[in-house]
Amino acid sequence: RPQVTLRRLEEMKAGHEPIVMVTAYDYPTARVAERAEVDMVLVGDSGAQVVLGYGSTVAVSVDEMLVLARAVRRGVRSAFVVCDLPFGSTEVSDEQAVETAVRFVREAGADAVKLEGGGETRLSRIRAIAGAGIAVVAHVGLTPQTAVALGGMRAQGRTADSAARFAREAVAVQEAGASLLVVEAVPAEVVDVVLPALDIPVIGIGAGRADGQVLVMHDLLGITEGKTAAFVKRFAAVGDEMVGGVAAYAAEVRSGVFPGAEHGYSANEAAVAAARE
Ligand code: KIV
Ligand code: NA
Repeated sequence: RPQVTLRRLEEMKAGHEPIVMVTAYDYPTARVAERAEVDMVLVGDSGAQVVLGYGSTVAVSVDEMLVLARAVRRGVRSAFVVCDLPFGSTEVSDEQAVETAVRFVREAGADAVKLEGGGETRLSRIRAIAGAGIAVVAHVGLTPQTAVALGGMRAQGRTADSAARFAREAVAVQEAGASLLVVEAVPAEVVDVVLPALDIPVIGIGAGRADGQVLVMHDLLGITEGKTAAFVKRFAAVGDEMVGGVAAYAAEVRSGVFPGAEHGYSANEAAVAAARE
């Protein structure tokens, strides 16, 4: 399969070919994404919760994200790899943001980095990173890293003020130099009126059709425990499969069925005799 480039993603938008993006956090999930032939893989800071067990995305560090990102990179051949810049790694200054973005490109081989928000300070960060020659994916609407300031993990763009802010930020991140845009948890009707003003591909999650979709792999596979966001659709029940497999193993160990003779090695009589001495 040919390499998915920014150019290819732009062509897909122009040709109304939906762009498929999914998260991955390690080598096996990267291989799953690659083998399923998705267009884009996101090393999301959702990994804070999904694979590291933190309560929110703000807890994950750059060093932790780099471990995940390098593992994903090793598993992906042709998909376009985007890495999230975690909370705290871009807030201090444009210089800090560029240094962080450079690490994800140099140390993890990211094709692009993603950062949340479209306010004035964020636009400055986008300009700085894009100015350094690194492709930037912007992320507006619900931005989990700053969800506390947004009043919690809730949909955006549902009031006049919030919809105006979304529209302003979506256009502003493009003008600041973002190459792609992720829109999270914004009503489709609101996204639809802003889409014509956007030349860059727009990937939605709980944001209607847009130019493509992104979901957290563990959500769509049904590995995530408990309640998930309204925008999640479960396409498989892999979590139950995994528990079933481990439970079956446990049951066979306890009943003595496993291991069987076929799961071990043979020795000749001399070896057994020598071991007896
Ligand atoms: O971290 C993540 O998984 C994301 C997607 C939900 C867009 O940012
Ligand atoms: Na994220």
